[in-house]
Amino acid sequence: YVIGVDLGTSAVKVILMNEKGEVCNEVSKSYPLIQEKSGYSEQDPNEWVEKTTAALKELVKQFNGEVTAIEGISFSGQMHGLVLLDGEKEVLRHAILWNDTRTTEQCQQIYSAVGEKRLLEITKNPALEGFTLPKLLWVKQYESEILEKASVFVLPKDYLRYKMSGQIHMDYSDAAGTLLLNVADKSWSAEICDLVGIDKSLCPPLVESHELVGTITESFAAETGLAPTTKVFAGGADNACGAIGSGILTDGKTLCSIGTSGVVLSYEETKDRNFDGKVHYFNHGQEDAFYTMGVTLAAGYSLSWFKDTFAKDEAFESLLEGLEKVPVGANGLLFTPYLVGERTPHADAVIRGSFIGMDASHKRIDFARAVIEGITFSLNESIDIFRESGKTIDTIISIGGGAKNETWLQIQADVFNAKIVKLSSEQGPAVGAAMLAAYGSGLFNSLQECAEVFTAEETSYEPIPENVDKYQQLFKLYKDVYEKTKDLNE
Ligand code: XUL
Repeated sequence: YVIGVDLGTSAVKVILMNEKGEVCNEVSKSYPLIQEKSGYSEQDPNEWVEKTTAALKELVKQFNGEVTAIEGISFSGQMHGLVLLDGEKEVLRHAILWNDTRTTEQCQQIYSAVGEKRLLEITKNPALEGFTLPKLLWVKQYESEILEKASVFVLPKDYLRYKMSGQIHMDYSDAAGTLLLNVADKSWSAEICDLVGIDKSLCPPLVESHELVGTITESFAAETGLAPTTKVFAGGADNACGAIGSGILTDGKTLCSIGTSGVVLSYEETKDRNFDGKVHYFNHGQEDAFYTMGVTLAAGYSLSWFKDTFAKDEAFESLLEGLEKVPVGANGLLFTPYLVGERTPHADAVIRGSFIGMDASHKRIDFARAVIEGITFSLNESIDIFRESGKTIDTIISIGGGAKNETWLQIQADVFNAKIVKLSSEQGPAVGAAMLAAYGSGLFNSLQECAEVFTAEETSYEPIPENVDKYQQLFKLYKDVYEKTKDLNE
């Protein structure tokens, strides 16, 4: 057996899997976002630890076998969030998360100090508000006394792993999202640290995602009921783990994952590809591989915002009842999901969303369909960039919230004009984390071998030509909305 921990933005999920790739048990615990000002998004790292400990305790309690049969544990984590630790490895302030957009000024500072071209050469990515380095510079500027006390910075799941194992590390796939890593060389960039004035000794030791970093501490074993011999493997960024857990491990494979944010990502085997920073380029959780990725900041978040605002006490199932009966185009309603700004392709923290085309006859379900179509259009902008660069995108594996609803899966096939494959489990990142523990423990010879067992296909959805045509017309309109509304909030 192995355990995968998925430390997400709204909840932590822990799953227990057996060697046949079956999910035996899962427990999830949620935690809130702390949003003190518009654009701020923080969480208390100790809450992650508390909730994960409680979830693991429940998972172990439900397990009938011997705990020593659980070989190892690994992690998938929300990316980019800054966790600062002092000399005693105590948390210095709340974590500043990936969807926090307070750092536009610090992004400019990075460009002035490093130069846009050089930054792209080293990190393969542009300076975006969500990444970690701008957050470090924000703390340096506004809370210098905190940075002075810091001995190391880590990312969310690294802190959790530290509390379980007593060891501080960061894996390449997550380090790639800090804007401090030389992505091709897999080393911290002394050049960027010097140019922006960040002490390189704040950067933690780097490891591979499947690497063994230790075993769980006696006290963590006592708290959860796990055996102290349980091996701890580094784990990876949630998107890298989503890719692993969906078998995106060879060239030509593409993933659409809709959680709080939504991503489309595609496997890359070389460190030399160049998308000019239009989409992200990160190290994979599979050794020496990469992936390119576009991000919609408010994907699942747009739908949960819609539910919380207009159908608070209802379940998603009842909110989406009748979705399939609303025609393509939501009876003339169009939604842009820019509730917290947008990442790909606009890199615009200020833009805000819209509903266009409201009619007195529209019902709530028309709005729900428009929200879902708008999220999907946004992801299609990233697919367009991949295709323009010469990538063939004809089959996409869909995971996350977007894969839970059949109508949404068909909408993905029609908007993306590609076959959509649904796996028997839609929880890619947690499965990917479990796979890293399974491969790391030597239960399989490679992640690919493990994927053959752990990522079974369930069904697929083909694009319907008539719907594809309609969506292509609407997509043109969708793209115009950004251009026409981008000055509204300036
Ligand atoms: C990726 C990103 C998000 C987070 C969500 O760049 O910001 O997908 O990883 O957890």
